[in-house]
Amino acid sequence: MKEQKSLIMGIESSCDETAVAIVSDNKKILSNIVLTQLEEHKPYGGVVPEIAARSHINHLNRLVRQALEEASVKWSDLSAIAVTSGPGLIGGVMVGLMTAKAIAYARRVPLISVNHLEGHALSIRLTEAVEFPYLLLLVSGGHCQLLIVYGVGNYERLGTTIDDAAGEAFDKGARILGLGYPGGPEIEKLGKEGDPRKIAFPKALMEKGSLEFSFSGLKTSLLYYMDSFSEKTDVSKPDVAASYQFAIVEILVEKMKRAIDKTGVKTCVIAGGVAANLSLRSTLEKRLKGVKILLPDLKYCTDNAAMIAYLGELKSQNNKYEKLDFPIYPNLKLAK
Ligand code: KG4
Ligand code: ZN
Repeated sequence: MKEQKSLIMGIESSCDETAVAIVSDNKKILSNIVLTQLEEHKPYGGVVPEIAARSHINHLNRLVRQALEEASVKWSDLSAIAVTSGPGLIGGVMVGLMTAKAIAYARRVPLISVNHLEGHALSIRLTEAVEFPYLLLLVSGGHCQLLIVYGVGNYERLGTTIDDAAGEAFDKGARILGLGYPGGPEIEKLGKEGDPRKIAFPKALMEKGSLEFSFSGLKTSLLYYMDSFSEKTDVSKPDVAASYQFAIVEILVEKMKRAIDKTGVKTCVIAGGVAANLSLRSTLEKRLKGVKILLPDLKYCTDNAAMIAYLGELKSQNNKYEKLDFPIYPNLKLAK
């Protein structure tokens, strides 16, 4: 293995995970700490931005020290500090960026700004030698996008959601069904006992060939369905969960199919928390014959700082450093 020359610390705080990692230039992940705030947001059925920001403040400094210890790295060993500067919840991104700037100033290491979406787009390359171009379906609680990744820094957005993200559709659906947060795993668990074809929920596929997503009609339809739902009929709650999940999965798979037809690209990477859904995984594999489907290890699929440090390494190779007055970009996009 190539001798390591640089060590990058990555910081991620754009949503509800406080994360710090240290990655070397030969992609060795020396530490990868992710502290989820799940329990703090659970009572509210979704991420509360103010709670998220305060929690990042409470934990980030400790996690930075822990990441150094776990990696057996001293401050003076660090070559640079990479941090998510957007997109994300403004308070959380601010906590991460200010911490990174303080480290950069005090320890005299260069500062690197990372687009969170670019981290997701390339995280598969931390562990797999996937060739460009590939399609990326990014499905999390905050994002639902289809992109084509031509190379590092070269992305085209094929479609995005016009309302809710896929994970949000699961979370809101779970709330309507009286299930806990996060909703994806809850719906998946309940749906295992149900019949996915029992209720034909509407699937917003838009006009022919469209690669945009929409889930709000589906969610409203579930709301109306549950208004008149009674356990006494031959439809059970597991049937409702399975049918609702089926509709979301069908939308995602159909859009993926369209993207493959449109671009001719036959390698697909799925990232984000919804990628954990087994029904999505098996339906993609069943329906996209002859297509290579890659899923990053779950710990690099959901929000993490290893992907941010990895992007930091790629940017440092091109001397893409920032000044200490670098602003945050809460609505940053990856491609037009
Ligand atoms: O990437 P992620 O961990 O965090 C952010 O969104 O930042 O994604 C979380 C989302 C939640 O909406 C959650 O309900 C969904 O991913 N999710 C799932 C599953 N596990 C997590 N959705 C469907 N099926 C799952 N098994
Ligand atoms: Zn994310």
